[in-house]
Amino acid sequence: MQPLDTTIPEPALIVLIGAAGSGKSTWASTWPTTQVLELDNFRAMVSDEAGCQEATDDAVFALQAVLEARLARRKMTVLDATNTEAAVRANLIATARRHGVPTVALVISTPASVCVERQADRTPDRAVPEPVVLAQHAAMLDAFSGLPGEGFDHVVIAENIHRLEALLQRVSDARRADLGWDGGEGLGDLLLVRRYFGPEILPMWRWRDTSQLAGGDRVGEIRLGADRLSSPCAPTSTERATSASRS
Ligand code: CTP
Ligand code: MG
Repeated sequence: MQPLDTTIPEPALIVLIGAAGSGKSTWASTWPTTQVLELDNFRAMVSDEAGCQEATDDAVFALQAVLEARLARRKMTVLDATNTEAAVRANLIATARRHGVPTVALVISTPASVCVERQADRTPDRAVPEPVVLAQHAAMLDAFSGLPGEGFDHVVIAENIHRLEALLQRVSDARRADLGWDGGEGLGDLLLVRRYFGPEILPMWRWRDTSQLAGGDRVGEIRLGADRLSSPCAPTSTERATSASRS
């Protein structure tokens, strides 16, 4: 029996292989977002809809351009798509070889019944029909033993690798930076703003300590070009302290 291969060199092209709902994007999220090329994202970029199958050719074209650029720079790259078709994998291996980057097939072998069940939680535009999921799952199983022969340098089963610590470390580093525990300024009062309004509002937000609008209390002001909104409903200092410590 061959020993289990859990090698993921750096850099590598990591090709995720698994049916819809198997957990590919969840595994991919353990690598930094800039390293992950997700076909659904490229579909959304060209068509505004992640599930738009008609946009696949354009999405693949755009993804291929980014893939070439990353591999030419020898950057770690994770390809998040089902990759259950041999022709798709052959193109990925050929691309990586042209740039001298090793390839890893990362197989996500979640049972077919679980992949199907998970479609039920999705919105209709994102749910993949059961026969398609079953066909993808069968294709993944069929492909497994032939992956080394296809040219992958390593064939790794996702369940056998340790990625949780890498994910937690990144989440923890981001949290420490937000809180200023890394020696930086941290978000301070903006933690509360981000919690209520989301990160896109942060660059436009100013706290104003006193305002006639709020009887001398503090207000939040959002500015974008000629637009300006002031909120006289700023929370009291007690609410602020409570929310900030929870956020
Ligand atoms: N999930 C889970 N436990 C895991 C991995 C995934 O419960 N260990 C759940 C996720 O929370 C998600 C669902 O399974 O709700 C599908 O996971 P996802 O990563 O989105 O699967 P993909 O393979 O990326 O599906 P698709 O091909 O459709 O993008
Ligand atoms: Mg996904």
